[in-house]
Amino acid sequence: MIYRIVKYGDPILETPAADVTEFGTPELKQLVDDMFETMYANKGIGLAAPQIAVSQRLTVIDPSAAEDATQKVVLINPEIIVREGTQIGEEGCLSIPGFREDVKRAKHVVVRARNVEGETVELPGDDLLARAMQHEIDHLNGILFLSHLSMLKRDLIRRKIRKLQKAGEWN
Ligand code: NI
Repeated sequence: MIYRIVKYGDPILETPAADVTEFGTPELKQLVDDMFETMYANKGIGLAAPQIAVSQRLTVIDPSAAEDATQKVVLINPEIIVREGTQIGEEGCLSIPGFREDVKRAKHVVVRARNVEGETVELPGDDLLARAMQHEIDHLNGILFLSHLSMLKRDLIRRKIRKLQKAGEWN
């Protein structure tokens, strides 16, 4: 099932999500499958549950954009335990379509998370995967990439979005 993606302006995107407490259930597996399907349908490389109005600490990532199934990553209740180096690169967000800006992130991270079965896993990521992990884990904490921009750029984007909202072009 393809979910509708929540757009910037909805408070759920700026609310910290709750831990997932039940693992290995058919419902959780279905939700993960649906999140991948929704992400691919929207040509994204990452999607966090709050973006489909599910306020839970769950995110899916595929830096290959569906080219290579071995690159699919599911992070549940994730935390970043190692951050090293820096990278600057363009970032966008399915909840803020049409806006892309350079964002500074760690170049290498290690994330500790649960998998669908509830096992604790530690996953390293570099470059684009590291960027996606940081962007998606931010979502679980109610933080959008706009928060990493200068106040000037952030205000400019907010003003443009407000115009789109008024014109009914932001749903
Ligand atoms: Ni995003």
